[in-house]
Amino acid sequence: MLDLFADAEPWQEPLAPGAVILRRFALSRAAALLAGIDEVTAVSPFRHMVTPGGYTMSVAMANCGELGWATNERGYLYAPNDPATGQPWPPMPAVFQALCHEAAVAAKYPDFRPDACLINRYAVGAKLSLHQDKDEPDLRAPIVSVSLGLPAVFQFGGLRRNDPLKRIMLEHGDVVVWGRESRLYYHGIQPLKPGVHPLTGEYRFNLTFRQAGHSKLK
Ligand code: SIN
Ligand code: FE2
Repeated sequence: MLDLFADAEPWQEPLAPGAVILRRFALSRAAALLAGIDEVTAVSPFRHMVTPGGYTMSVAMANCGELGWATNERGYLYAPNDPATGQPWPPMPAVFQALCHEAAVAAKYPDFRPDACLINRYAVGAKLSLHQDKDEPDLRAPIVSVSLGLPAVFQFGGLRRNDPLKRIMLEHGDVVVWGRESRLYYHGIQPLKPGVHPLTGEYRFNLTFRQAGHSKLK
């Protein structure tokens, strides 16, 4: 298929108060980001987490950075060690940090210092039900979300679960940043459609950068 945007510069689309889509922002570094995912998951492999309610998530997850998102019987938590290996999560690759910083600056969150990066892998049919990202103690920090590989439909609502949803196709290289007024807006990913992407095959990957610990800034 002819891709009319193959050579286009990234562009921005406002999403909600405090939220913006940086279209194709990660495109030029996509291969390096995917190599980073391989590096991290060679040490801390993808796994299908079981929710506190006993449900096995369809999305496979891994983490890098000082803290990683995990579950136990009591609920969700950010932990310094991977429960699967007992070791600290692998460090965030330099290309992850650089891309995240540049995206945060472009989205007007120049002080964002992520200490956690959740890596999601979607196979056909995998989805993420509508939820809020609310396990982080300092909600002044935004979420920076990077999409790679197959496209998926992102739903973005409001503060209430039944607020109207925008449905946005996120494509390879797109970055979404949400914070301030929209930091706790409900969002999700609709079931992945089958397809083949030249760089990721039958998968979509997503990186979400978070500040999961307390702020080190005064
Ligand atoms: C998330 O909601 O944390 C990830 C969303 C996505 O995969 O784009
Ligand atoms: Fe989320």
